[in-house]
Amino acid sequence: MAFFYEEPSHTFSEYLLVPSYSSAECIPSNVSLRTPLCRFRRGEEPPVSLNVPLTSAVMQSVSDDRMAVALAREGGLSFIFCSQPIESEAEMVRRVKRYKAGFVANDSSIGPDETLADILALKDRTGHTTVAVTHDGSLTGRLLGIVTSRDYRVSRMDASAPVRDFMTPIDKIVFARDGLTLSEANDILWEHKLNALPVVDNEGNMVAFVFRKDYDMHKENPLELLDAQKRYAVGAGINTRDYEDRVPALVDAGADVLCIDSSEGFTEWQRRTLAWIRGRYGDAVKVGGGNVVDEEGFRFLAEAGADFVKVGIGGGSICITREAKGIGRGQATAVIEVARARDRYFEETGVYVPICSDGGIVLDYHITLALAMGADFCMLGRYFARFDESPTNRVMVNGNYVKEYWGEGSSRARNWQRYDSGDSASIKLSFEEGVDSYVPYAGTLRENVTETLSKIRSTFCNCGALSMAEMRRKAKLTLVSPVTLVEGGAHDVILKEAVKRAK
Ligand code: IMP
Repeated sequence: MAFFYEEPSHTFSEYLLVPSYSSAECIPSNVSLRTPLCRFRRGEEPPVSLNVPLTSAVMQSVSDDRMAVALAREGGLSFIFCSQPIESEAEMVRRVKRYKAGFVANDSSIGPDETLADILALKDRTGHTTVAVTHDGSLTGRLLGIVTSRDYRVSRMDASAPVRDFMTPIDKIVFARDGLTLSEANDILWEHKLNALPVVDNEGNMVAFVFRKDYDMHKENPLELLDAQKRYAVGAGINTRDYEDRVPALVDAGADVLCIDSSEGFTEWQRRTLAWIRGRYGDAVKVGGGNVVDEEGFRFLAEAGADFVKVGIGGGSICITREAKGIGRGQATAVIEVARARDRYFEETGVYVPICSDGGIVLDYHITLALAMGADFCMLGRYFARFDESPTNRVMVNGNYVKEYWGEGSSRARNWQRYDSGDSASIKLSFEEGVDSYVPYAGTLRENVTETLSKIRSTFCNCGALSMAEMRRKAKLTLVSPVTLVEGGAHDVILKEAVKRAK
């Protein structure tokens, strides 16, 4: 007879936190969200921690080097996607490690024979108004000039006007040679009253921009997540097929933490992958496993040597695993059970293995709930895909800006390794477990993460908690009825926004 769980499983939206006493010390600026990322023994310091409990998903449409830099700057960690050739993933890790604060890798280039219409399309796609004109239109081509919105008047010019006719050519712009410091670059910006300073290498090839508007941003980032050499920390995804080649390449490139990216963690393939890494590197290489949704799955990965365990099957916004295969579990229930399993394992063995709630975060308070339920940190895909820093195109749909967001289990991602069934014949996806979609464009990572964290800190204060551990001890959680859910949003009023939209 099959095993039946007595209780239904629940999602985050079915829970609320009940406030506790807040003392005068309970103010948001006193709240620390620092949390362990990798396993440690009782009484020892965690070898790797996050300064804020956020990681970005191991997905093509979410985590590349640009996202990794932006998130590390705020204290979280990205896991660079692994559904790409080993060398290009390793190069992304190297780019994060080489990143110099304030030097923005060029991401908008155009060739001299392209047109004003092309410039406008590029600006729409990237949201950037400063474009490097390079001899071949590539990001690292020889710099011929730059175009900003001051170089053209859309109403007076022909859309087919070639860029070379209206760009500001190289002999009229101030640029700098690679190798200068940020403070030297800033001096040039101020001295020449510039908004942007292109930086080129010795051959005149485009390397980066330094922007005046970023000046304040780089002065201080008290929570930024750095490695021992003061470079930004970065994670990287691996799979259960090519780890013997991928892991050494990522470790050589400087990845701080690895994560097996798979829809199913309770498998022999993950055990073998972890065993191989432990055999070759001992504890020197940090690697998480997953995903699981119950105690058995957690214990399996903890005993196999995972440094952290990811929790969640079927709850991701782009995920259709539950529809396709009928497997999964409500995310809140899964987190609660696995958090208890982690605590029991800690009591028995003295080893603490952090857990990550992965997928299904829709509203900011879902993160707070996951932490209160026992998650050490969260992984988010949809949330980060909406920002300027995600690797996908920004496009206009029905008058609104959106960004593309697709699942690793969609045919677009071609990530068959993530759904590895161990069958040597299955080197392609036989059916999809994810969709290709749009998410509303939301601006910069910094603005959004700042707001999200301030909501989390504020709720911590409402619960009388100043740290993650205290939140877990003090949180009082209640299930809510469907009627209570209706009460939770604005209700029985006519929203002015809706009236405006209807006009
Ligand atoms: P989100 O934050 O709700 O968008 O969920 C992101 C998470 O969904 C990722 O971290 C993965 O665990 C999971 N995921 C990514 N791609 C797919 C897919 O194609 N199908 C199912 N789950 C996916």
